[in-house]
Amino acid sequence: MIINKNTELEAIKKTISKCEKCSLHLTRNNVVPGEGNVDSPLVFIGEGPGADEDSSGRPFVGRAGKLLDKMLKDWAGINRNDIYISNIVKCRPPKNRVPTDDEMKSCIQYLESQMLVIKPKVIVTLGATSMSYFTNKKKISESRGKFYDWYGNIKTFVTFHPSYLLRNHSMEKGSPRWYSYMDMRAIGVMFR
Ligand code: URA
Repeated sequence: MIINKNTELEAIKKTISKCEKCSLHLTRNNVVPGEGNVDSPLVFIGEGPGADEDSSGRPFVGRAGKLLDKMLKDWAGINRNDIYISNIVKCRPPKNRVPTDDEMKSCIQYLESQMLVIKPKVIVTLGATSMSYFTNKKKISESRGKFYDWYGNIKTFVTFHPSYLLRNHSMEKGSPRWYSYMDMRAIGVMFR
């Protein structure tokens, strides 16, 4: 059977837009389901929407998003429009706190469904929340820059969250920014 990815993803989006499975729906302005190229071999997954994402309904459009765009373009040589971007939770946790286990449990089926429709080759996890869901690893500094099996033929690749890099400016060898640069370069090679 031929499945139209866009139709499937639109159906998931519609379900997300009505979701009231956890209390995050009470404080959200918009759901942030995800966006991008549904045929991309690469998907980037963050933690959850922040204020800018909540008001626009789009993932990674605030300060961290601007940095992600730059990391993609300047370090990996990838245009944001060529990949798919989403989050572990689709509604903003108040004050940008880390989503609770229950919130993640309520929401994760949406991300899993999206991934099983898109079927990327590699899911790049941005930050600890995304890493620990996809890999069960606990320390980014030890787990970054490596591939892990996720489901079927889909692999994950761990790297730092751009928000973390906004607080860590040094590009010195061995710094988080330097490691992120190495990771994004490796991702760029994969993409070509
Ligand atoms: N941080 C995230 O994890 N996701 C976004 O969409 C924006 C900031």
